[in-house]
Amino acid sequence: MIQLQELQHSFGQGQLKQQVLHGISLSIQDGESVAITGPSGSGKSTLLSILGLLDTATAGQYLLRNQPVNQLSRQQKNQVRNRHIGWIFQNFNLIADMTALENVALPLRFNPEVATSAYRQRAAEVLAQVGLADKLHARPSKLSGGQQQRVAIARALVNKPGLILADEPTGNLDSATGQSIMDLLLQLATEGSALVMVTHDPTIASQCQRSVHLVDGRLSHAN
Ligand SMILES: Nc1ncnc2c1ncn2[C@@H]1O[C@H](COP(=O)(O)OP(=O)(O)O)[C@@H](O)[C@H]1O
Ligand SMILES: [Mg+2]
Repeated sequence: MIQLQELQHSFGQGQLKQQVLHGISLSIQDGESVAITGPSGSGKSTLLSILGLLDTATAGQYLLRNQPVNQLSRQQKNQVRNRHIGWIFQNFNLIADMTALENVALPLRFNPEVATSAYRQRAAEVLAQVGLADKLHARPSKLSGGQQQRVAIARALVNKPGLILADEPTGNLDSATGQSIMDLLLQLATEGSALVMVTHDPTIASQCQRSVHLVDGRLSHAN
């Protein structure tokens, strides 16, 4: 699914240049679950943004399904991102004045394989899959944190992505709710999507098949 070879990333230019990733090499297989741990500022979110095609590495190679990402046009990158990558964030990032169903249906606009007339049914199916069949018409403000994260997971899944990226997905949840979200994410990984998850929480990280640890933009161990 993913191969990184000596990936580097820096922000800024000249004297202000800050090197954030120093030669990351890593392979992630289809359906694998990988936790990225490390102290604040070590480059975890930057690495995830590059994996999710939100940012482009300044050096090194990123192969996504054997395709060099730096050979894709901006339009091709958008297409891959919208169709094949699902994102989950710590603060859910739901649209406040849309219902759960409308939030989940949003990414379907980028999927030519799903007809507009089928959006509601597809979104309702995925919400049922995450245990929210009775909350289709609720707005985020009427939902608990755990329920909002389930909506965000449904939105990430609606296009059946091969790659799910999650940045501290349990960071704003109490530990019991966080564990139920983790169970759901791991279940999705067993259904074939690769899961790459940033977390501070060792209990959460240890449930992934693999953990990699970032310190100052370098992988300190990969097992
Ligand atoms: N858009 C940006 N512009 C400039 N510097 C950035 C940007 N994003 C992150 N950084 C810097 O890169 C370093 C790593 O940040 P980040 O990847 O967010 O770390 P983590 O997620 O591990 O806390 C930090 O020093 C941060 O200030
Ligand atoms: Mg971060």
